[in-house]
Amino acid sequence: MKYSITKNISLFRYQYDKKKLFEGAWPIKDGVSVNAYLVQGNEKTALIDYVEEGASFDEELKDLGLTVEDIDILVLNHMEPDHTGGLRDFFKRRPDIPVYCTKVASTELISLYDKKDAHVIKPMEELDLGGTTLTFVPLPNVHWPDTMGTYVKEEGILFSCDAFGAFGETKSVFDDEMTDDERKLLETETERYYANIVAPFSNFVLKAIDAASALELKMICPSHGILWRKDVKFIVDWYKRLATYFAGPREKEITMLLSSMYGNTKALADELVKKAEEAGAKMHVVRIPDDGVSFLLEKAWRSEALVVAAPTYEKAMFPEAVYAMDLLARKGLKGRKSMFFGSSLWSGGAANEYKALAEKMALDVVDAIDYRGVGTEADRAKVFAAFDQIIAAVK
Ligand SMILES: Cc1cc2nc3c(=O)[nH]c(=O)nc-3n(C[C@H](O)[C@H](O)[C@H](O)COP(=O)(O)O)c2cc1C
Ligand SMILES: [Fe+2]
Ligand SMILES: [Fe+2]
Repeated sequence: MKYSITKNISLFRYQYDKKKLFEGAWPIKDGVSVNAYLVQGNEKTALIDYVEEGASFDEELKDLGLTVEDIDILVLNHMEPDHTGGLRDFFKRRPDIPVYCTKVASTELISLYDKKDAHVIKPMEELDLGGTTLTFVPLPNVHWPDTMGTYVKEEGILFSCDAFGAFGETKSVFDDEMTDDERKLLETETERYYANIVAPFSNFVLKAIDAASALELKMICPSHGILWRKDVKFIVDWYKRLATYFAGPREKEITMLLSSMYGNTKALADELVKKAEEAGAKMHVVRIPDDGVSFLLEKAWRSEALVVAAPTYEKAMFPEAVYAMDLLARKGLKGRKSMFFGSSLWSGGAANEYKALAEKMALDVVDAIDYRGVGTEADRAKVFAAFDQIIAAVK
């Protein structure tokens, strides 16, 4: 779909198939948009980013009375195939189109699409399209090393690539058009997108925010999700907060990763949920594998405390819980106040595996308790005592 942003800038918005997993991993039952932008100067027209394989912007161009032949310049902010897969076909139709991108992107462009003649931008290099100027702003490692933003100084618009993006398909295009339901959707879908996609690069996000803050920003147009024009500061501050969760401080909340085959571990987890409620502590319980690691990442990323509850399985931790913890570690989750408990029957072993993982993640471990079956009074007392310390940490 094509939408007007200013008199000479258009949004080409493509909706990802909700049945697919984004990046082959993340469920998107509420969708995600892929945003590209057409900037029409008095002399030249530039397309900023493209779309996944099998799709094109022919219809959007037609809406403007244009064809691919009318695009003079292709700017690629980031080479990830959600924004470039369709180029395989596009380059067959426009083999000689000038491409502007970073040095890293230029090598990826060869590896992926055998296009060898890209123009490698210099930081803050300008390109005059005739009355409209593009400035290329490197934003390395947000989300890949190749990433940059493109800024239009005449309008104060930053095309920020994956930075400031979100999951979630909305009817609205701009922040000031959002309905209450859309706002509610984006509350969680922005954080889930951040935790799933951007989290490991949080230090680079903070640098990118510094770089963006040096520009006069009237509008932020990311490559996924809503465009921000009324409250640019809101999304910048939100992203800053999300990036800050990497090293802390974080929200005074508890996330519990809960796996249970037959309900023994869950029974004790339910008692802890009640205790948290009584103490007025905010706790998110995410069932693994049932609810999915994507949602665990979202909640755990913002939370100061991580409780892991999982039974023993082949003398070690329930495998899906191990996978979930490994994923948290890879996404840069570290330093949380944490505890473990879980049911076993003859050997135990989950607690030891948790301790090894927790050490790798520099978690601040209160206790790790394997118990047999439903646990003795003494086992349960140990779990409750550890949980009291977790609650104290989020008070
Ligand atoms: C496939 C499988 C492997 C298991 N391996 C172990 C084990 O190595 N050591 C042990 O103490 N218990 C083991 N157990 C027993 C469970 O830990 C025990 O049934 C526990 O109460 C399950 O907790 P849950 O009800 O929360 O799923 C295993 C159970 C299953 C189904
Ligand atoms: Fe990306
Ligand atoms: Fe993307």
